[in-house]
Amino acid sequence: QLILDTLDAHSTISDTRSLVIPGQSEPATSQDAQIAILGALNSLLSRDMVKFETHEIVSHVLTPEGSQIAVEGSHEARVWSALPAKGQGAPVTPAQLMKQVGDETAKVGQGRAFKNKWIGKEGDGLVKLAPTIKDSTQIDLLEIQSSGTLKSGEKDLADLRKRKLILQRKGQWFTVQKGTEFSTSTAKPETDLTVEMLTSGAWKTSTFKKYNFEAEGAPTEGGSLHQLLKVREEMRNIFLEMGFAEMPTASYIESGFWCFDALFVPQQHPARDLQDTFYISGKHSLSPYLIETHCENADPPHSLDPEPEYYKRVSTVHEHGGYGSTGYRAPWSHEETTKLLLRTHTTASSAHMLYKLAAKCRGEDVEDDRPAAGKEGGEKEKHDGFRPAKLFSIDRVFRNETMDATHLAEFHQVEGVVADRGLTLADLIGFMKVFFAKMGIKQVRFKPAYNPYTEPSLEIYAFHPILKKWVEMGNSGMFRPEMLEPMGFPKDVRVHGWGIGLERPTMIRYEITNIRTLVGHKTSIEGIENSPAPMF
Ligand code: PHE
Repeated sequence: QLILDTLDAHSTISDTRSLVIPGQSEPATSQDAQIAILGALNSLLSRDMVKFETHEIVSHVLTPEGSQIAVEGSHEARVWSALPAKGQGAPVTPAQLMKQVGDETAKVGQGRAFKNKWIGKEGDGLVKLAPTIKDSTQIDLLEIQSSGTLKSGEKDLADLRKRKLILQRKGQWFTVQKGTEFSTSTAKPETDLTVEMLTSGAWKTSTFKKYNFEAEGAPTEGGSLHQLLKVREEMRNIFLEMGFAEMPTASYIESGFWCFDALFVPQQHPARDLQDTFYISGKHSLSPYLIETHCENADPPHSLDPEPEYYKRVSTVHEHGGYGSTGYRAPWSHEETTKLLLRTHTTASSAHMLYKLAAKCRGEDVEDDRPAAGKEGGEKEKHDGFRPAKLFSIDRVFRNETMDATHLAEFHQVEGVVADRGLTLADLIGFMKVFFAKMGIKQVRFKPAYNPYTEPSLEIYAFHPILKKWVEMGNSGMFRPEMLEPMGFPKDVRVHGWGIGLERPTMIRYEITNIRTLVGHKTSIEGIENSPAPMF
């Protein structure tokens, strides 16, 4: 308040050492006072009420001995005081003096008092010579105590330093100006916009504290992975340990072509129905802002066509057959292939990657642009350009399902794909057994199933050690030649693949019965924090 009032009256403070703190008679020249002033200045600065500049000075403080002298007088003055004036009483012997003023003061004080001609000898004792004295040591120290320095200058300061009565200190003082938010009121600015302020209209007149974008924020006490992420991490580690490379799965939006047609899913298949698949409506769903500023095609109404030769081979195998297949012998719709949709399975991403893997088999010049294949891959590469691959992904898929305690419209699939020459169904089954064993599930069973893109297909069941019953885990199979050969794979290349859900094993592991407590706004933070590592 003193700073603000002084600024209000004089518009600047050229030296904060001239301020007189209320209740004190002298200006605030000491460093203690300046430190207190700095605290106030910083708090006013953070509210832009003042601006200030710092000036460095060398100042002095008293040592404990110096402080004692400031109160009681110098040793020589104390010696002088203890003596009788010449001819006015019995001279004091050195032994008596020591008793009276203490050994130290008697010793140090005598020498100086003699030198100053304040005292003299009379017989065996000591008497005062000077009728009055001026104790300049005490006077100087008192001056330093209040101002940090001596007007008389450096020579006297140096002398007092040598006598260890004062110490040099770095000091500061300040010049102060009004800031942009200057006012004489120190009422604290608001830090929050509250409902009360909005309803009462008080926000219009309140001053708000500025955001400090430099602030580092409170450190978080800890964090915890969501159960799905814990299980995902465990499965990812198993894949990596088994030499698999992770597929890119960032494109949630796919075309009908890559989600279905490339996989030899008939165009009339019920999975492609509006009932089961979310289609993207095109131009209307994005704001005009995004379309204009980001890219013209930010929200296209349909997908671009794939490479025409490949497209032709796919449409032909659907319509008329080939590669030993009769095909579906049903009319082909180009429009169906360009529909945009939220992918219903990550096998759409696998299809992209397999197509890429076969690039060299198609005669394309794509040396290192293909998926990683592991060490043996390079060695096995033949003249036909095929290189084996083990790929996996764990990501989100979307289905237009009725939501209930165990179904959501979006969930995660764990998918693995292995491509090599002469793979058999036994390889797929063997792989599954190893994978589940690594998760702690030793018993797995397989049941014949149907999939448009695999033959044979197998449903995977695992005996769950916690539930003590057989649980369906996923779906798998050997990809059909109708899918692989149009991509360009040589005839002896086999690809097996499998997909399992992430949510089901997670719910079983953590004994969660309603999927809504695992995902969505009813998720229990406590449950997340308390769920242990996912060893099955
Ligand atoms: N895409 C299948 C599903 O969604 C899983 C699968 C992947 C089956 C690969 C066979 C091969 O259930």
